[in-house]
Amino acid sequence: MRPRVVAESVLWVGSVDWERELFDELIPLPDGTSYNAYLVSGSERTALIDTVDPTKTDELRSMLDSLGLKKLDYLVAHHAEQDHSGSIPYVLERYPEARLVCTLKAKGLMVDLLGVAEDRIVTVADGETLSLGDLTLEFIHAPWVHWPETMLTYLRERRILFPCDLFGSHLATSDLFVRDPSRVYRGAKRYYAEIMMPFRTNIAKHLERLASYDIGIIAPSHGPLHDSPRFIIDAYRDWVSGPLSNKVVIPYVSMHGSTQVLVDRLISALSDLDIMAVPHRLSTGDTGRLAMELVDAPSVVLGTPTVLAGAHPLVAYAAVLANALRPRLQFASIVGSYGWGGKAVEQLLALVPNLKVEVLDPVIVKGYPREQDLTAIDGLAARIAEKHRGAGLKAA
Ligand code: FEO
Repeated sequence: MRPRVVAESVLWVGSVDWERELFDELIPLPDGTSYNAYLVSGSERTALIDTVDPTKTDELRSMLDSLGLKKLDYLVAHHAEQDHSGSIPYVLERYPEARLVCTLKAKGLMVDLLGVAEDRIVTVADGETLSLGDLTLEFIHAPWVHWPETMLTYLRERRILFPCDLFGSHLATSDLFVRDPSRVYRGAKRYYAEIMMPFRTNIAKHLERLASYDIGIIAPSHGPLHDSPRFIIDAYRDWVSGPLSNKVVIPYVSMHGSTQVLVDRLISALSDLDIMAVPHRLSTGDTGRLAMELVDAPSVVLGTPTVLAGAHPLVAYAAVLANALRPRLQFASIVGSYGWGGKAVEQLLALVPNLKVEVLDPVIVKGYPREQDLTAIDGLAARIAEKHRGAGLKAA
């Protein structure tokens, strides 16, 4: 792709990764992603804001070649994760006069992860500004968006916020700006669930601080840009602290049908109580979708057979993932079956110390579920309904 105009003196010079299917070798990217870099040309100096994934350095090279950019004064690095920083060594080599601008915390990471020479780095304090002549960059430290070294940049004269990973979406698109809001909403929610949710307390503080800025454009590091920023700011407010939905997420595995019977009964019982059941079959499901469903869920019920005396490994994986993502869950339970014994419940509960949930009595049955087991499932659904009634939820 060619450089694209974001605003006067501001160009997008990033890379759209249509092919990427996994991020962090962990979570599927059904719609690809992009690595957004921006060139800001002031009357006296020029700054590049972030670079691209190292697999896309050639595309950045072509962009800079096409612009005939002979001199670069600053390379602003918001974040040391390689999807943005990976092409920094190339840029610093191409422009030997350029200084790398980052936080003090990022400096160490730039040296350790990328081998950047310390004398190429200039650190900036929170709120510090950098003049490019007629344009001013203001740096906003934003730890845990998504690493501790992260900062954002506000381009005052153009009212553009470059928020790094914040407000981003894993979405490959030829649209520079958001033109299909429902598609971008899904991509941004997936991104929030996978990357930002563990830091939602920090994110809430950053949202509060950003409310005092006059923002005309949000230019994140992934996905299309927002020229109507209210859309993504409101979505983030909702995901971080809005009311939860009246729903129960049910990640489960069934090997020989017993757990499936319990899950089916739970779905039916919850439906009868006007609670949305969201079953997620772990053996085939997309873990990104599971993460998205957890964003606004007050309750989760894990469904597991017993394998080698413990939970099915995929259910243990889901528990570990949920524990790491720290969704706003309030209630949890477990349903499942065993043949001759096991410790699945104890094992799964030990895997989720970060989840501050009230555990509702699990329903674990021996062999194929009988009528009394299904009645116990109805009882679990009724307890969930009772808890939800007191939890101030929005309608599902
Ligand atoms: Fe897009 Fe945390 O890197």
